[in-house]
Amino acid sequence: MSTGRLAGKVVLVTGTGGGIGRATAQICAREGAHVIGCDLNPGPSQETVELVRATGGRMDAISPVDLATEDGARDWIDQAAGIGGGIDVLVNNASAIRFGAIDALSYQDWSFTIRNELDIVFLVTRAAWPHLVARGGGSIVNIGSISGSRGAWFMPQNAHGAAKGGVLALTRQLVIEGGPHGIRVNAVSPAMTETPHTSPMLADPDGPSEQILSRVPLRKWGQPQDVANAILFLASDEASHVTGANIPVDGGAAVVG
Ligand SMILES: NC(=O)c1ccc[n+]([C@@H]2O[C@H](COP(=O)([O-])OP(=O)(O)OC[C@H]3O[C@@H](n4cnc5c(N)ncnc54)[C@H](O)[C@@H]3O)[C@@H](O)[C@H]2O)c1
Repeated sequence: MSTGRLAGKVVLVTGTGGGIGRATAQICAREGAHVIGCDLNPGPSQETVELVRATGGRMDAISPVDLATEDGARDWIDQAAGIGGGIDVLVNNASAIRFGAIDALSYQDWSFTIRNELDIVFLVTRAAWPHLVARGGGSIVNIGSISGSRGAWFMPQNAHGAAKGGVLALTRQLVIEGGPHGIRVNAVSPAMTETPHTSPMLADPDGPSEQILSRVPLRKWGQPQDVANAILFLASDEASHVTGANIPVDGGAAVVG
């Protein structure tokens, strides 16, 4: 049920073809936002637009775009601001990862991950900044991860952990720079979330599910909607005095020693 928490707002979401990006688009549109998405993959991106419109929501998307390039990020932001007539909220959600242990991860895979998880947030935010300043303020929500503040037993994720740690550090710095402009900057840090991408691994009886779940106090996987609901709060005016927060959406996993 909508209570219009984002009525009249233009909300940009990156990676709307993926699990959490799609749920974020759906929930923000349900709450009255004009959502403008994008993705590297045009098929799933367009599917999200159709799902949102089928429920009466307002959404446009531009795909394919590669946001991990200067031109790609700038062009998407400028086109989106043109379509929306400005920007109120930016959700930095899109990412792509390559895993590997320190003695196995190639420099190429390290660089790919840093570019598609950390540079992407810098490039998109830098392009959006003047639009948010011109609007007199706004809200940026960066999707971090539990991996940004601790190591993982179940997966060698050097580059991913480093990139997400960088996203959280960048979030803190942007809080300072955004304050005078009325720009709030916050993060949401999920732990394992059940998406089309992660579901096969989580369902694999020989996979790491039991090991991961044993460290989640609530003993269940997060759903994309759980993450999207935290994003919704930070995007909305209900969070008008909240900047610099990092909300864990992890079933309590971050407090387990
Ligand atoms: N799913 C989880 O368990 C989990 C846990 C912690 C954090 N996260 C974070 O949540 C966010 C969303 O994760 P998800 O599980 O929905 O991922 P996903 O892979 O389902 O979706 C990510 C989307 O981003 C798009 N994308 C990747 N690189 C891009 C680029 N350069 N330009 C444009 N689009 C690009 C992909 O095509 C994809 O559709 C990510 O930042 C991820 O790190 C996810």
